Amino acid sequence: MSGLPARLGRAAFALVAALLLSGGAPPRAGAPPSPDAIERRIDALLADMTIEEKVGQLNLVGRLDDLPMTALRAGLVGGAMNYVDPREILAVKRAARESRLKIPPIVGLDAVHGVATYFPLPLGQAASWNLPLIEESSWRIGREAAALGIDWTFAPMVDISRDPRWGRALEGAGEDAFLGARIAAARVRGYQRAGLAATIKHFVGYGAPEAGRDYNTAWIPTEQLFDLHLPPFVAGLDAGAKVVMAAFHSVNGVPATASHYLLTELLRDRYKFRGFVVSDFDSVGELVRHGVARDRGEAARKALMAGIDMDMFGGAYLAHLPIEVRAGRVAMQVLDEAARRVLRVKMQLGLFEKPDVDPAKTEAELRTPETRDAARRMARESIILLKNENAILPIRDTVGSIAVIGAMARHEEDKVWTDPAGFPRKETQTLLAAIQERAGAGVAVRYAKGVDSCGRRYEEREEALKIARESELIVAMFGEDCEFMGEAASRARLDLPGVQRPLLESLVATGKPVVLVLATGRPLALTWASEHVAAILQTFHPGTEGRTAIAEILFGEVNPSAKTTTSFPRSVGQIPISYDALPTGRPQKIRQRYESIYIDEKNEPLYPFGFGLSYTRFSYANLTAGAPAMRRDGEMQVMVDVSNTGGRAGLEIVELYVRQPVASRSRPLRQLKGFAKIMLTPGETKRVTIPLKAQDLGFHDELGRYAVEPGEFEIFVGGDSRAALKTTIEVTP
Ligand code: NOJ
Repeated sequence: MSGLPARLGRAAFALVAALLLSGGAPPRAGAPPSPDAIERRIDALLADMTIEEKVGQLNLVGRLDDLPMTALRAGLVGGAMNYVDPREILAVKRAARESRLKIPPIVGLDAVHGVATYFPLPLGQAASWNLPLIEESSWRIGREAAALGIDWTFAPMVDISRDPRWGRALEGAGEDAFLGARIAAARVRGYQRAGLAATIKHFVGYGAPEAGRDYNTAWIPTEQLFDLHLPPFVAGLDAGAKVVMAAFHSVNGVPATASHYLLTELLRDRYKFRGFVVSDFDSVGELVRHGVARDRGEAARKALMAGIDMDMFGGAYLAHLPIEVRAGRVAMQVLDEAARRVLRVKMQLGLFEKPDVDPAKTEAELRTPETRDAARRMARESIILLKNENAILPIRDTVGSIAVIGAMARHEEDKVWTDPAGFPRKETQTLLAAIQERAGAGVAVRYAKGVDSCGRRYEEREEALKIARESELIVAMFGEDCEFMGEAASRARLDLPGVQRPLLESLVATGKPVVLVLATGRPLALTWASEHVAAILQTFHPGTEGRTAIAEILFGEVNPSAKTTTSFPRSVGQIPISYDALPTGRPQKIRQRYESIYIDEKNEPLYPFGFGLSYTRFSYANLTAGAPAMRRDGEMQVMVDVSNTGGRAGLEIVELYVRQPVASRSRPLRQLKGFAKIMLTPGETKRVTIPLKAQDLGFHDELGRYAVEPGEFEIFVGGDSRAALKTTIEVTP
């Protein structure tokens, strides 16, 4: 190698070696390289990289005022985030190609529920219980992101949440681990089928901050960590998720970003994760504020040693890791391993060979009729009918006048803040327009805001009350928008924000029936509304096509079928609340002192997990287990007849719950262990079969060991978590 600069010599040698080992041919575009070839290619790269270039791979930069061109050209950027202009993304990628080693940056975005075409918020999607449709939605969102040149989405959030005070419940799938796991897997598959790397986040227990306040500490017993919070992550890993994002907060006293136990012992050693771990936004630097690092240098060292590979936005790694390595406080091998994980994902995604996106062609791939159609289908199945007194919905032909109230019913842009991602959210149609289109020619549809679009202030209040008094039916669209939902939007009160509740009371006082259409990011405490309005349609911001879907339901073109995946509390004091509570020694029986009750509130939620109405009725009969018993590693089918006893075709979500009445520990009163979604025409009965796996019936102990304990299991099947139809089986050793 004489005559060649030493580094170049090593690089040339490593490259030749890699080519020889891989059969001499560079990886072809289109054909994914073998895992061995990837590792050899990484070996070759690492052998040639300076410390700064290795640390650069761990540096995730974001949109500041200027594009980070100088750093990209110097090879000091591993990833770039939250750009949505395809020309900027292209510029970022081109700048990296001017760097010495030309390693492509991985470009990430919070493509959570849409980029150009918005789908319902994930909590709304979850209410569909329709896994193929959820997967398709993620795939289509991923395709729009890919059309911009995005390689990576910071989604899905798979945090389980049973505390609606926490503003980010909207990004998840609700309160249940079994359903949450299946939805996590579907979303990972969808995004990654679109060619993106998916990120399961926020590892772990971020949905359980004390008192529901975002970023706050979580205290999670081992049993609950494994039985409740980890299953969606495990399912996401099994589905092939390439990235995991660590949470901001502390879990049992250790910030997740500095937790060797969580990031290395659990994630890598126990679950064999081979992708990379990204921090949350400057959560490496925040270790100083958590009080586990004296300065950002120590924070960077601790985070890397714990298992954080990529540092999101804070720059702590870039500024400090080279110093830490040179001082011998961080072994080169640890740095190499982190860089390897990032490079591995880049190679698995084919970024080194990926052709550039032509910004001129992007627009044609956004908001396509197929994507909008999927967004409409998803919206239809995400809207929950919570109340429908006297079958006030669908709106009858005989209704001659409708007052549409609430600025949300006319504004074209949801301000809903999940994260600063994607393009402005434009509705295809406002709710007012969608209602006008469907109301017959002779129907007077009048509109007044009543409140502004954030619900904070009255606007046109008198006009709203006047048209309400003069109409036969009131459709009021209220909810949470603006600052009331999303990250850092924790709430101590769960009523309609601002002046919406007093306006609702005034509307009810007109004596005209009120249909309340809710667009919120969480279940609110709707106790007053549930007692006074005629109908409640719960939407979790249903997306670009959502207003049209709401109108389709209001007018009966679509029969609602969604069911809530989170319990609706009656009062904030019931929180945290979930259906799968353990029994107590003092259960509620006749509601007297010394029973486990509130003296000023019911125990039950207002609307239980799994609940949602339809315009038709369903009945359940003939529940049978395929066998009286199964072995601990066995599987059986559970059958039930479901009939449509109403007058319209409808989709029904059939839910199967299990309880083990006696075990070595108290087991939940019921736990979801299966479900099916079926279509039934009026008068039709279907025998529905739901598989039940014995392996799903176990639980973890305080050391995190999993076991299925043989014994008797009760099975309940029905239309929500109160399902009454019951049979019993035995699980044998
Ligand atoms: C902070 C959020 O917690 C995280 O989920 C998100 O991906 C990042 N911001 C990037 O926007």
